Amino acid sequence: MLSTRPLLCALSLAASAYGYPGKLDDRATLGAASHFKATCHRIAATISKASEVFFPPSPQYAVDISHTYASSSEASACSVEPGSADDVSKILRIIGSTRTPFAVKGGGHTANPGFSSTRGVHISMIRFNNVTVGSGTVELGPGLTWDQVYAALDPTGVNVIGGRVPGVGVAGLTLGGGFSYKSNEYGLSVDNVVSYDLVLPNGTITSVTPNNTDLWFGLRGGMNNFGIVTKFVLKSYPQSNIWGGFMFYVPDQLDAVKNALVRYQQKQDVKASVAVVLNYASGQLTLGSFLFYDAPVPPQGLFDDFLAIPTTVQNVSTKSFTDLLLSLNQLTFGSSSNIRNYFSGVPVTQYSPAIFDAFVNETKFWGVYLASLDKNASVTVTLEPFDSGVFSHGSGSAFPPDRSQAIFPSVTGASWANASIDGIVASALRKEKATIHAIALAEGQNVSHAAVYVNYALFDTPLEDIYGQNVPRLRKIRAAIDPGDVMGLAGGFKF
Ligand SMILES: Cc1cc2nc3c(=O)[nH]c(=O)nc-3n(C[C@H](O)[C@H](O)[C@H](O)COP(=O)(O)OP(=O)(O)OC[C@H]3O[C@@H](n4cnc5c(N)ncnc54)[C@H](O)[C@@H]3O)c2cc1C
Ligand SMILES: *[C@@H]1O[C@H](CO)[C@@H](O)[C@H](O)[C@H]1NC(C)=O
Ligand SMILES: *[C@@H]1O[C@H](CO)[C@@H](O)[C@H](O)[C@H]1NC(C)=O
Ligand SMILES: *[C@@H]1O[C@H](CO)[C@@H](O)[C@H](O)[C@H]1NC(C)=O
Ligand SMILES: *[C@@H]1O[C@H](CO)[C@@H](O)[C@H](O)[C@H]1NC(C)=O
Ligand SMILES: *[C@@H]1O[C@H](CO)[C@@H](O)[C@H](O)[C@H]1NC(C)=O
Ligand SMILES: *[C@@H]1O[C@H](CO)[C@@H](O)[C@H](O)[C@H]1NC(C)=O
Ligand SMILES: *[C@@H]1O[C@H](CO)[C@@H](O)[C@H](O)[C@H]1NC(C)=O
Ligand SMILES: *[C@@H]1O[C@H](CO)[C@@H](O)[C@H](O)[C@H]1NC(C)=O
Repeated sequence: MLSTRPLLCALSLAASAYGYPGKLDDRATLGAASHFKATCHRIAATISKASEVFFPPSPQYAVDISHTYASSSEASACSVEPGSADDVSKILRIIGSTRTPFAVKGGGHTANPGFSSTRGVHISMIRFNNVTVGSGTVELGPGLTWDQVYAALDPTGVNVIGGRVPGVGVAGLTLGGGFSYKSNEYGLSVDNVVSYDLVLPNGTITSVTPNNTDLWFGLRGGMNNFGIVTKFVLKSYPQSNIWGGFMFYVPDQLDAVKNALVRYQQKQDVKASVAVVLNYASGQLTLGSFLFYDAPVPPQGLFDDFLAIPTTVQNVSTKSFTDLLLSLNQLTFGSSSNIRNYFSGVPVTQYSPAIFDAFVNETKFWGVYLASLDKNASVTVTLEPFDSGVFSHGSGSAFPPDRSQAIFPSVTGASWANASIDGIVASALRKEKATIHAIALAEGQNVSHAAVYVNYALFDTPLEDIYGQNVPRLRKIRAAIDPGDVMGLAGGFKF
């Protein structure tokens, strides 16, 4: 047993020193590493046959700890793949009683260091991969990615409200909010949850429905603050073929893309979804768009401005929802295994010509600057206009903290290779956000308290900027549910 009090204190200190971006001296590292390993062995001796613990250099360990972006991976003492809620409960009890730092990974798409990685016990939810169609609902395991979900649902004729790109996890996206191609029509993913199966920080297995007022509020946007989710039950909707795909425009079409985006925002059609992507890499600005309509054929005229722009590649057509996701597989989302990446959300209420120009200038400016430090650097922004009623399909959730006006979450990002510039990249993204925010304020946008989308927020974003006036309530709920601060042993935005 490791739980004598002085040892606990020393270990908690060592553990907190692991919190990003802290450093640990060698003596503490050795002590902590053997403690973490001891926890791994205790877990291995306690869990059922449904679950398994892996140690380096086993290939499954490498799979478990890997992330989309190298900057989000850490070498843990072991990885654990729980196969039942019962085992998740046992694991969490051991972690809590030994105060061992840990991580929970769903799809591994966070770009924030330490949010789903650890030097301690890495829990991979990969075995929770069931898709079960009920009547009016679909149950999803938190180890699934959205492309797997859509592929499984394709033959059933129903669909759920989830991610827009292959590889992104059901768990992180749904716990943070979830902007989907169908959000204008049906709301965010959090607005479509029917219930959660949850292992509470003390190991109690429970299910959370609207009757559990506080947890219901907290889990819808509150990420990993309240325990480990072992099942999401989502509302389902009939799904026909859709119309959509991506377009990449010839480089001199910047004004045409701007005009198309500005004019598109005057139109309101809840079945439509548009995103415009600007990317600066290898000395070039690339312009692209994603167009979506939730029917086999879009109304005449709706997308004409985008469709009229000359393209280098275009893949817009009538197809199944799952084929839409598959078609995006051929795009690279920073997929080289050693590429580092950060994201930063820059909420605005409108893509005016001035805001568009500012995003273009910032993308180029930081693209040129970062490429001067690291030839692999690229800088990107996704502009995503939503319908004015996008937040009207749900109520009372941790995120978004204010549903009275639509916010375009807008994600800026940078990819690079050399870890020595991590800090410079983060600082560039903070400066870009401040610049755009100031321009939006100056042109009269109501963004002084506009919430940053938690799944786009850079790792050091203040809680108040994400959760607004919800922070005190979320802190109270967290204190009641997790008095031992077990979830504080995992990274992430913590109440
Ligand atoms: C290419 C790309 C496309 C994206 N597209 C969209 C989009 O269309 N819409 C959108 O809203 N967002 C989008 N995002 C953002 C995305 O929602 C977040 O990155 C999200 O957190 C990813 O979830 P994950 O399970 O893959 O991540 P992970 O890194 O596995 O987890 C993210 C967080 O969730 C926690 N977590 C994971 N599983 C559990 C669990 N079972 N219980 C409790 N906590 C858990 C982790 O501890 C971590 O803090 C995109 C991101 C990328 C990189
Ligand atoms: C997945 O479904 C099967 C069949 O119903 C069940 O036996 C198994 O326990 C489920 N797995 C998880 C992780 O829920
Ligand atoms: C909520 O509680 C009510 C009254 O106790 C009960 O009838 C109902 O089934 C519960 N709903 C859910 C979703 O658990
Ligand atoms: C478009 O996507 C389909 C899959 O839906 C793919 O087979 C095809 O190659 C893509 N076409 C282009 C031009 O990228
Ligand atoms: C950086 O770019 C070079 C040259 O294009 C490439 O060979 C290398 O794989 C890139 N590094 C990463 C980490 O992607
Ligand atoms: C472009 O952005 C940089 C960095 O924010 C700024 O210094 C410069 O003045 C901007 N240029 C224009 C034309 O806005
Ligand atoms: C990373 O940058 C540092 C500091 O500029 C440099 O010393 C190092 O050689 C670089 N590493 C690689 C692999 O380019
Ligand atoms: C401005 O935004 C705040 C939230 O940031 C919101 O409470 C308020 O209602 C908004 N005002 C208008 C006029 O939309
Ligand atoms: C675990 O936490 C829940 C929620 O706070 C509480 O209701 C329950 O009594 C706790 N169980 C134990 C065994 O402490």
